[in-house]
Amino acid sequence: MSPIPTDHFERLAAAAALIRERSGMSPEVGVILGSGLGGFGDRLEAAVTIPYGALPGFPASSVLGHRGRLLVGKLGGTTVAALQGRAHGYEGFEPWQLAFPTRALCLAGIRTLVVTNAAGGIRADLRPGDLMRISDHIDLSGTNPLVGPNDDRLGTRFPDLSRAYDSDLTAKLYAAARGAGVELKTGVYACMRGPSYETPAEIKMLRTLGADAVGMSTVPEVIAAVHMGVRIAGISCITNFAAGASREPLRHDEVAVVAAKAADRFSALLEAFLPAAAS
Ligand code: 6GU
Repeated sequence: MSPIPTDHFERLAAAAALIRERSGMSPEVGVILGSGLGGFGDRLEAAVTIPYGALPGFPASSVLGHRGRLLVGKLGGTTVAALQGRAHGYEGFEPWQLAFPTRALCLAGIRTLVVTNAAGGIRADLRPGDLMRISDHIDLSGTNPLVGPNDDRLGTRFPDLSRAYDSDLTAKLYAAARGAGVELKTGVYACMRGPSYETPAEIKMLRTLGADAVGMSTVPEVIAAVHMGVRIAGISCITNFAAGASREPLRHDEVAVVAAKAADRFSALLEAFLPAAAS
């Protein structure tokens, strides 16, 4: 176990300063690109690439489909910081480590964070390849990035999550989807710790609880960003039916392949949305 370092805030501030110095830009919008969705980074203009290894404190994911680098570049007039790949709790990282890149971007100045992931569809109409706006989440990961002493420089002890997914951004996300001609569904995302996929009984439980899709990421970043007062929008790429909804066994390489097929629609949606999300 890695306890929260006593100089956690200083480490975050150092990472934020490094991001601004190495890129020569001040990011306005952050985006976390999930499994198989990293290709969006190619759409950034004049992008500066910073490998996570060059950013002290950034956890390095070893998962297939995650590249492990930060891009800072332009989309129209908007400066975007894109995290290509993320670490997960099931890799053994502590929640504060999972939140580190998000917090560094927030300290570097982003006012808006767009979180994305690959997820299993629970609701019957959520099919492989569909894009789903995350309307809300259910955190079943068993932990929380805010566990430990609260640092008041980051945010308050008991942050309110009743409006975690911003309504103004939601309206802009739908407008962007219409403009890009991309269908966007909506639903509640459940976060499990993983790494095993769920049993059919667990999927039935999640459906009963009100979850529409299930994955193993995103929620720690959302909580950390809300804590810091940054607005959030979330998009899941449905890559497979969750257990019980399909007779096919679940395989991670399938997740990456389906996400890659949805990548063009996903990238078109983000390209339209991120500049609007900055304002
Ligand atoms: Cl079915 N479950 C979880 N936990 N994560 C996933 C998934 C399922 N499909 C893609 N990611």
